[in-house]
Amino acid sequence: MQFEVFTLLPEVFPPYLESSILKRAIQRGLIGVRIHNIRDYTHDKHHVTDDTPYGGGGGMVMKPEPIFEAVETVLGLAPRRPPPEPDSSHKGTFGIPIIFLTPQGRVFNQRVAEELSRHERVALLCGRYEGVDERVRQHLITDEISIGDYVLTGGELPALILIDAVSRLLPGVLGDPTGAEDDSHSMGLLEYPHYTKPSDFRGWKVPEVLLSGDHAKIEKWRRERSLLRTFYKRPDMLERAELSKEDKKFVESLKSNDLRPAAFDSQK
Ligand SMILES: C[S@@+](CC[C@H](N)C(=O)[O-])C[C@H]1O[C@@H](n2cnc3c(N)ncnc32)[C@H](O)[C@@H]1O
Repeated sequence: MQFEVFTLLPEVFPPYLESSILKRAIQRGLIGVRIHNIRDYTHDKHHVTDDTPYGGGGGMVMKPEPIFEAVETVLGLAPRRPPPEPDSSHKGTFGIPIIFLTPQGRVFNQRVAEELSRHERVALLCGRYEGVDERVRQHLITDEISIGDYVLTGGELPALILIDAVSRLLPGVLGDPTGAEDDSHSMGLLEYPHYTKPSDFRGWKVPEVLLSGDHAKIEKWRRERSLLRTFYKRPDMLERAELSKEDKKFVESLKSNDLRPAAFDSQK
C-alpha cells in the first residue's frame, strides 16, 4: 500500500517511519510512504505557502496553489477548473482517497482504518496554521478525518497515526499474522489481559488457567475477560458487538453479579 503525504514539515516523519514495525514493512515493500514538501510546489522567490485570511482575523491560512499543484502532480491528476468545463472529479476517475486531516473530519477509529486498508494508494494532506483555503476542501480533497475531538498544531501526527493503524492491518506487516485480529476494537470488544514471564512477580501470580495448557479453557477465559472489560470500561461498544448466545449469557450474568474488580484486576 502506498501513502502519499503532503506536508510543510517533512522532517517530522522519518524518525517514526524509520523505527520498528513500520521500518520493516517499508524495507520489505509491504508499504511505501512518500513525503512531499508542499513548499517545493511554490514558484515565488520566498516559497510562500500561507497568507492572511480574507475578512480579517488572526492566524494564517495555507494557500491553495501549491497544495493543488503538489497533489495533482504526484497523483497525476488533470488540473481542476470550475464548471462549465466538464467536472474532472478525482473521486470517480482514480478512486485514490485524498484525505485532509482536520479536527472537523469524521472521527478515526478501527473501522475507518480497515476501510482505508482496502485501498492501494491513499493521499494524506496535513494542515498547519488555521488550516487550508476552503477551495482545497471543496475541490481537491475527497475525505476529511479527525483523530479526536481536540486541536493539534498540525496534521503530521494525525497522518502518522493513520499510517500506523492502517499499516498494521496489512498482510505480513505484523510478525504474528493473527496479531491484529484480537486487538481491542477489531472484534468490537476490548482485548483480554496479557501476561508474560515470570509467572510470579513480587508475589503477583499469573492466572492459573493461562499456565494450564488447556487451550479450550484459555480461550473461554480470554473471551470472558474481553466481555468483562468491555462491559465495565466501554459498555457503548458492547451494545454494538456481535455476541454469541454464550457471550450474551455471560453478559447477562454480569448484570446481577458485580465483577467490576475483575475487569481491572484479572486475578480476582
Ligand atoms: C491548529 S489546526 C487548525 C484548526 C482549524 N482552525 C479548525 O478549527 O478546524 C492546524 C491543522 O492541524 C491538523 N489537526 C489539528 N487537530 C487535528 C485533529 N484532531 N485531527 C486531525 N488533524 C488535526 C489539521 O490538519 C489542521 O489543519
